[in-house]
Amino acid sequence: MSSPVKYTLTGNIGVISVDSPPVNALSHAVRQGLLDAITEAQNDASEAVLIICEGRTFFAGADISEFGKPIQDPWLPELLNAIESTDKLVVAAIHGTALGGGFETALASHYRCAVPSAKIGLPEVKLGLLPGAGGTQRTPRLAGIEAALELMTSGVPVAASRAKELGLVDEIVAGDLREGALTYVRKLLDSDAPVRRTSEIDPPKFGDFDALRAAVTRRARGQVAPLAIVDCVEAAATGTFAEGMKVERQKFSELMQGKQSAALRHFFFAERQAAKVDGLAKDTPVRAVDSVGIIGGGTMGGGIAMSFANAGIPVTMIEISDEALERGLSIIERNYAGSVKRGKLTEEKAAQCRALISGSTDYDALADVDMVIEAVFEDPGLKKKIFARLDGVCKKGAILATNTSYQDVDQIAAATSRPEDVIGTHFFSPAHIMKLLEVVRGEKTADDVLATCMQLAKRIRKVPVVSGVCYGFIGNRMLRPYGLQSQLLLLEGATPEQVDGAMEAFGMAMGPLRVFDLAGLDVGYKARQALSDAEKGDPAGYRVLDHLVEADRHGQKSGSGFYIYDEHRKPTPCPEVHKIIEETAAELGFERREIADEEIVDRLTRALYEEGGKIVEEGIAQRSSDIDVVYVYGYGFPAYRGGPMYFGENA
Ligand code: 3HC
Ligand code: NAI
Repeated sequence: MSSPVKYTLTGNIGVISVDSPPVNALSHAVRQGLLDAITEAQNDASEAVLIICEGRTFFAGADISEFGKPIQDPWLPELLNAIESTDKLVVAAIHGTALGGGFETALASHYRCAVPSAKIGLPEVKLGLLPGAGGTQRTPRLAGIEAALELMTSGVPVAASRAKELGLVDEIVAGDLREGALTYVRKLLDSDAPVRRTSEIDPPKFGDFDALRAAVTRRARGQVAPLAIVDCVEAAATGTFAEGMKVERQKFSELMQGKQSAALRHFFFAERQAAKVDGLAKDTPVRAVDSVGIIGGGTMGGGIAMSFANAGIPVTMIEISDEALERGLSIIERNYAGSVKRGKLTEEKAAQCRALISGSTDYDALADVDMVIEAVFEDPGLKKKIFARLDGVCKKGAILATNTSYQDVDQIAAATSRPEDVIGTHFFSPAHIMKLLEVVRGEKTADDVLATCMQLAKRIRKVPVVSGVCYGFIGNRMLRPYGLQSQLLLLEGATPEQVDGAMEAFGMAMGPLRVFDLAGLDVGYKARQALSDAEKGDPAGYRVLDHLVEADRHGQKSGSGFYIYDEHRKPTPCPEVHKIIEETAAELGFERREIADEEIVDRLTRALYEEGGKIVEEGIAQRSSDIDVVYVYGYGFPAYRGGPMYFGENA
């Protein structure tokens, strides 16, 4: 097999060029090729060496698919030491994303140049790891302790311009990367720039590591890697480079063998797998979506509109009246203003996005749009009426999507003469922030409609997961047994704060009872009033909820539910709720007992796992890892536990 690494002489510059699609991961073949090339360059007539990648990006990191397998020499840290110790100038030319081991390769080079669109980052923490090829030692030597820690503990990449400010990139090159980089190398040679080894830079000034640890612990919420990163940076600040590398090596290998990294690596591949639809040919055509209509400018419609506008896709929002439209548009306005205030968006970008959203009360405004997403009240009759109307108004080939949380997409599709164009796109609240998109494939949904929505999801920066049609699709369907267990635990002896505390300590963004309070207890209550006792199911599942609503506790919005809320929405446990629970337990004949936190976590996670199993068995989800993606991105399940299915299999 030919090597993905080529070495050629361009005048007096040795060019090491790497082409290993899709993302130039530092696989064994790439590492070997780099070592061979740097050895050749060391011994030939070149005066400087340029490392450059072909394709869409500079190295995206170590090859994650090799993790957990025996290491094949050359090992990345050793290869990078060989690159750094070369006595000819080594320059890295960065485009795309230089991530993890990829950026560490650039750090081991003596100089770094980048195109303006490049990004650099150390995202190992997202895999439960730390930069293990010298990144924890070299980054603080160039950027200082705080900036290095921020890069490594957040895992969020920064733009080339910011990297230059931080001292992590030396030169921004405009135009063609190769030409620009060669010009830069010549400039360095002409000015007799010295070989500059990052490892030889004096260690960064000592920081207050206890304070840093306390801050990182608060942010890390149960993850072990961020604290290990602090240990490594402390070693960088207090010892020699070689000593620091030893600490990095030891911590990296501990993390690699740990449960959290295994779970996060599973999750990395699960997310990418979820984007693939079994049985759908890779070359399935997609429909152009360059304009979107959204029906309903409420909680969801507004957020969905923002998601499209943020991706540069114009939106027409339809509401029932001028007042409702005004209200919807003003919420969007406020959201954008908030993003500007928090520094998430520039004023200019916010104005551009806002200008892409227009409104109307006339369905005829949707005649030419490529796709419509309906987000009106969860009323099946109303939804069917709207789809029949869309059928009359929309152009041929327009995709007609519903954001329904529970309703039967096939029945909604049947209200039109073109069920093949109908699909569910189930966003999560707040829709402009939450990354999950359940793409609900109806019985008659055309392949190209499905393929288009999967691709579109990426364009609007969502993570798509395909679901079949069933009540609540994947995520909300699983909430039912999860919710039931939470109620049983209360009746059997636990308090709301104990149930939520145990689940939050486990890593859930929010415990189940706080979620009930957030969603509003009255919503389910009203829905139950229309059901017979048989339809309502086991009274243990809802009797406490009913009693809370009857005591005027409607959840967070009313100031009380399972908890009392202050003006900052901070929950405080409430003795009245304890009394309601105890009385309901007596009413239903429950004998209360001490319940351990482990039992709470076990029963609640098992409820998710078992329902998830049925969902896979019925073919509603394509694979169990898709369910993990739904729960991590849509329901706050901790990624470092891998998702409910992975956790159920591996705990
Ligand atoms: N190793 C192996 N495969 C990788 C990979 C990696 N580092 N990065 C991406 N891939 C694969 C993906 O699995 C996917 O494969 P598939 O097509 O078979 O599903 C393919 O490359 C394309 O990836 P994406 O779909 O994610 O492509 P995008 O264009 O959306 O994103 C990216 C590109 C930003 C580079 C993104 O893939 C990414 O963030 N990759 C991970 C980067 C990372 O975590 N690097 C650190 C690795 S750990 C490390 O370096 C340790 C070191 O410190 C010792
Ligand atoms: P909402 O009540 O906030 O907004 C609904 C909007 O639709 C209102 O502004 C209303 O004026 C408008 N509307 C009603 N009939 C209309 C018509 N005929 N034409 C145009 N506009 C009309 O509701 P929300 O929460 O935004 O929910 C919308 C849909 O999204 C529902 O199907 C819901 O189940 C689903 N959903 C809701 C989530 C949530 O957390 N709120 C999460 C995911 C899905």
